[in-house]
Amino acid sequence: MGKDDNDKIDKLPGVGPATAEKLRDAGYTDILSIAVASPKELSDAAELGESSGAKIIQGARKQADVGKFETGTTLLEKRAKIGRITSGSKSFDELLGGGFETQSIIELFGEFGSAKTQIAHQLCVAVQLPTDLGGLNKQAFFIDTENTFRPERIQQMAEALDLDPDNVLQNIHVARAYNSSHQMLLVEKVKELSKEIPGGLLVVDSLTAHFRAEYIGRGALADRQQKLNKHMHDLLRWSDLNNGVVCVTNQVSSKPDAFFGDPTRPIGGHIVGHTATFRIYLRKSKGPKRIARLIDSPHLPEGEAVFNVSEKGITD
Ligand SMILES: Nc1ncnc2c1ncn2[C@@H]1O[C@H](COP(=O)(O)OP(=O)(O)OP(=O)(O)O)[C@@H](O)[C@H]1O
Ligand SMILES: [Mg+2]
Repeated sequence: MGKDDNDKIDKLPGVGPATAEKLRDAGYTDILSIAVASPKELSDAAELGESSGAKIIQGARKQADVGKFETGTTLLEKRAKIGRITSGSKSFDELLGGGFETQSIIELFGEFGSAKTQIAHQLCVAVQLPTDLGGLNKQAFFIDTENTFRPERIQQMAEALDLDPDNVLQNIHVARAYNSSHQMLLVEKVKELSKEIPGGLLVVDSLTAHFRAEYIGRGALADRQQKLNKHMHDLLRWSDLNNGVVCVTNQVSSKPDAFFGDPTRPIGGHIVGHTATFRIYLRKSKGPKRIARLIDSPHLPEGEAVFNVSEKGITD
């Protein structure tokens, strides 16, 4: 996807430069996203009449690469390549059927201090372990939206695993995202870099903070969900193409929040929830103890695991 598709948007019948700009701003950056839109969605996004929207969609459907059917055999072969990154805790790994799976998005949600960022750091180290020790022998990308990546913390975790901290830091590629558009753009950048860097992990910490801050109130909800939807699908595509793990974090507040309704519901709601392959709800327990609960997994039972956060990182 990327640039080539962006160009094609301009060439769709009925799409001039101004409309193309509006469509892109609304998150319609490739032909397929237009092909699967409804006339109402599209005309709202580009401030067009619905019949013009319908015409553009028709054009897009003619050109779109709608996708292909694969046989069950091919899919089984693909699933045979699935790798796993250890969380550092046996019981946490067991909850996930052996660790954080590749070709999937894992959403960590929970209130502040529930260890979302700690787990993200731990995975950046663990992905570098050899496969027999719970890693993928690959490198990590970290999109940091809240400025909470700490190299010192990586050093501690690396030492605890008898890894050379300098080496480990060298294999983690961190970028700050200054707003939600920048955050989405950085995924494109990661796709590019992944041609040269063998990436086994892509972290977005936090997935939702910028979106939450930028799209405020009821009127902005549809826009926000649409952008998040595209973002999640970009991430999923990366995990598929690179046989990697995508780990995203999502804060939920334990306090009532007038803007967002039910306080215990993670932001992004079902858009994020349905695209994530695994959702893990994290909560604080006594002292360094944290509880992970697996929610809505396609093939694993719901359950809970208790783990520890210490100087050494995530342990049992
Ligand atoms: N070096 C360390 N040694 C021991 N525990 C640590 C260390 N660093 C962090 N922690 C623990 O991790 C907790 C912070 O967790 P973390 O930053 O992962 O929360 P979070 O879920 O990302 O929160 P937020 O929603 O605010 O981003 C601290 O409260 C502390 O208990
Ligand atoms: Mg955090």
